[in-house]
Amino acid sequence: MQINDKSGITEYVADSNRYNTMQYNRCGKSGVLLPAISLGLWHNFGFVDNQNNAREILRTAFDLGITHFDLANNYGPPYGSAEENFGMLYKKDFKPYRDELFIASKAGYDMWPGPYGNLGSRKYIMASIDQSLKRMGLDYVDIFYHHRPDPDTPLEETMVALADIVRQGKALYVGISNYQPKETAEAATLLKELRVPFILHQARYSIFDRWVEDGLLDTLDDKGVGCIAFSPLAQGMLTNKYVNGIPEDSRAAKNFTYLDKKQVEANLEKIKNLAALADKRGQKLSQMAIAWLLNRPAVSSVLVGASSSGQLRENVKALDNLDFSKEEMDIIHANS
Ligand SMILES: NC(=O)c1ccc[n+]([C@@H]2O[C@H](COP(=O)([O-])OP(=O)(O)OC[C@H]3O[C@@H](n4cnc5c(N)ncnc54)[C@H](OP(=O)(O)O)[C@@H]3O)[C@@H](O)[C@H]2O)c1
Repeated sequence: MQINDKSGITEYVADSNRYNTMQYNRCGKSGVLLPAISLGLWHNFGFVDNQNNAREILRTAFDLGITHFDLANNYGPPYGSAEENFGMLYKKDFKPYRDELFIASKAGYDMWPGPYGNLGSRKYIMASIDQSLKRMGLDYVDIFYHHRPDPDTPLEETMVALADIVRQGKALYVGISNYQPKETAEAATLLKELRVPFILHQARYSIFDRWVEDGLLDTLDDKGVGCIAFSPLAQGMLTNKYVNGIPEDSRAAKNFTYLDKKQVEANLEKIKNLAALADKRGQKLSQMAIAWLLNRPAVSSVLVGASSSGQLRENVKALDNLDFSKEEMDIIHANS
């Protein structure tokens, strides 16, 4: 019998050198070490995306020592499809490595219709973790986050739901995301009373978005909680991608994304200045943007997205030059 399929997907065996170059940082005052660079599956892993590409990105990540994969119930599109695709690829490639992986999911945004598929009620959160585990084919996630604060649900209700998820063995640690400093401190107090390991706050943080410096990082330091910085490349603006215009296959040119051409155009001058500085440092802009974040003691990990394995390889090279002179810092701050 002749086999005509020559597409060449091979069985995955992780690179035996995978732990040689990645740096691992402690999350706050916990026992958990995270890779300096983690991978997020918000974009590029849904049913609308190319599955071979997604598989290659995941394999590349793990081969580079990236042990932390970040998901959420609503990543796709459609909602849930990133978890479902991840589950399928996990089963094919990563199952033997489960104890080497730190896998995250979240609930807090719009997920299913009706009054119980959004925000912060116990009803929503308890159902969502079960759905996420089922989609990913996992017995537990390593960390489960409340994805955003819900002003209308008592914080205690949401935090007790997170605690119960840990007690039920469905998550090992808990985190929160997009909470302001005051809400973060309140959550930390409640979770401490409940004796639940609250180890991470996932916050948007980049050269272009420094809101966390206005109180949140101090609160996290005070509570012994780590910060994992999401959208560190400002969704691609802090890369060399847009220096000469907006490529057709970029996030800014696509529909159903949260980056549009106007945002890129408004930041173009700063992007060019920063790219020139990165060039002088012998780096790509993406590498400098990641190195700048890793320079901040509060940051446990930088959570990047990637639309190709090549981008991820490039980004991990940020670790080759993490030092900045005062003059370089001044230029970055002038272009923040
Ligand atoms: N907690 C929350 O509320 C929240 C919100 C947002 C994100 N997140 C998490 O954070 C993760 C990362 O967010 P993000 O995707 O916005 O991060 P990002 O790292 O700021 O942007 C990633 C995008 O930048 C472009 N890129 C990356 N490396 C590049 C390179 N070397 N050269 C050129 N372009 C490059 C790619 O876009 P192209 O498609 O244009 O190539 C890529 O998809 C998400 O996946 C998710 O896990 C969490």
